[in-house]
Amino acid sequence: MKWTASKLKALKGERKFPVLTAYDALTASLVDGADIPVVLVGDSLGMTVLGYETTLPVSMEEMLHHTTAASRGVENALLIADMPFMSYQPSVEMGLENAGRFIKEAHADAVKIEGGAVRTELIEALVANGVPVLGHIGLTPQSIKEMGGYKVQGKTSEQARQLMDDAMAVEQAGAFAIVLECVPAELGETISSALAIPTIGIGAGAGCDGQVLVFTDLLGMSGKPVPKFVKKYADLNPLIAEALSAYKSEVESGAFPADEQTY
Ligand code: KIV
Repeated sequence: MKWTASKLKALKGERKFPVLTAYDALTASLVDGADIPVVLVGDSLGMTVLGYETTLPVSMEEMLHHTTAASRGVENALLIADMPFMSYQPSVEMGLENAGRFIKEAHADAVKIEGGAVRTELIEALVANGVPVLGHIGLTPQSIKEMGGYKVQGKTSEQARQLMDDAMAVEQAGAFAIVLECVPAELGETISSALAIPTIGIGAGAGCDGQVLVFTDLLGMSGKPVPKFVKKYADLNPLIAEALSAYKSEVESGAFPADEQTY
């Protein structure tokens, strides 16, 4: 069954669901093959596969390239493209144009944009023009310079109220779901109960309707420290390092290729 934004929205109150990032045909086909309903081509690819320090340098061209590649690996999952920094912030027109490129050129089913009440005009315009939108509030990495670091958001009652207002505004503007990143579990649960659309938590506790993780974090691929909210379901980095080092030694010693690998 091909997942659509409205099918995902209908999961609210029915069952919890997983979302995972993917960055190319290989990773997207692994996620899709595991029956995970959503493949998010996150701008986290700036750090996970492009070697940037933050998501800020990620360009439209890079996101289009990776989303197109991911689309070749997806059969059933909803394919969501993350709109990169400054591809939608300057104007509603620019946001519409760039979102259109993800749908037309990269075969995305929906786009994700960061921000709350400040994005309502853009979300309304996208939805009115046929582009399903996933919102994203709480810790929004594209605002990291303004936020002053990767910190839990919504800890004071004033911040919590602001996040609730933002969530309501994103829902009212027409988003089909919203990512809540790095907020206290209690606030994640309160927002999830107040909204009619699903919340997708990342560091927002078990009260959210769905959960999202980054592919390379879940599989322990980076060899770098991961945030507290990550659960590593595998620890591939040392396994890969061991395999590469065995290959190196065997080529150097002449043990590879052996008779089995020789014509
Ligand atoms: O860029 C990303 O991967 C994301 C998710 C972690 C929500 O925004």
